[in-house]
Amino acid sequence: MKCPVIRPLSVFALVIAVVLGGSCKKAPQRGLDDIKASGQLLMLTNAPFPPYEFYAADGDLVGVDIDIARRIARHLGVELTVSIRPFDELLPALAAGEADMVLAGLTINDERLKQASFSLPYIDAMQYLIIPSTANIKVLEDLGGKTVGAQAGSTGEEIIAKAIADGALHKTGCQLLALADPAEAVAKVLTGELGAVVVDDTVALQLTAGHAVLSATPLFSQSGAMLSEQYGVAVAPSNPELLSAVNEVITELKNSGELSAKIKKYEAMAREQPGAAAQ
Ligand code: ARG
Repeated sequence: MKCPVIRPLSVFALVIAVVLGGSCKKAPQRGLDDIKASGQLLMLTNAPFPPYEFYAADGDLVGVDIDIARRIARHLGVELTVSIRPFDELLPALAAGEADMVLAGLTINDERLKQASFSLPYIDAMQYLIIPSTANIKVLEDLGGKTVGAQAGSTGEEIIAKAIADGALHKTGCQLLALADPAEAVAKVLTGELGAVVVDDTVALQLTAGHAVLSATPLFSQSGAMLSEQYGVAVAPSNPELLSAVNEVITELKNSGELSAKIKKYEAMAREQPGAAAQ
């Protein structure tokens, strides 16, 4: 297992890793029988990331991912327990046996498939830019000379980091600022500290709602391709039985139309609550 990458930003992660001293040790994964025997299904996520996980007006953690996870728990006849972690610690914690699954608007990609098993995709997403309304930025290379924010550990961060290392943004003066929370990045676009933020589509739209000076716009690669992704539920590779249960629930939610209904419901709820993305 790969040890979590400790970034300069996540001093907290470093402290925890040092204190526990065991973050890189592989704990035995719980199988489906252990989960059923304990009566608890342990989920990790990172919030706020509306409409997938965010805080409702009464402070409750709600969203599409929370509902899907609750449905999986019900299918197994157990209770759901949700814990929040920094986004870049979610998969290392899963690999360390600290939870049974991760639902966090988590994009399925090759790198992550080396660390976890993923369910069938349940959401199609793409990368968006949050920029000042006056800026004319559409493709990656338009970010030359700008400081760009992204959530630490996210696919948005990876896209910009790769483009700076050896792609469209190489030697263009573009700088990347990794932040713990996408909403924090947006505040920095408002102050002019960042020229843009790269984040998933629905979150970009949610974060810019009500800010006339900001726009959310799709980010295109140099060749004009959309940067599309798919979300999946991550479980430990050693737990194929849990994975099948997760896939059954996802298939049912998709086929019955309940998943689309939930997305609409939570998008509307997050929109009506301007603070949803910023707690
Ligand atoms: N889809 C992107 C990724 O997987 C961003 C997900 C961020 N999710 C969150 N709950 N903060 O990297």
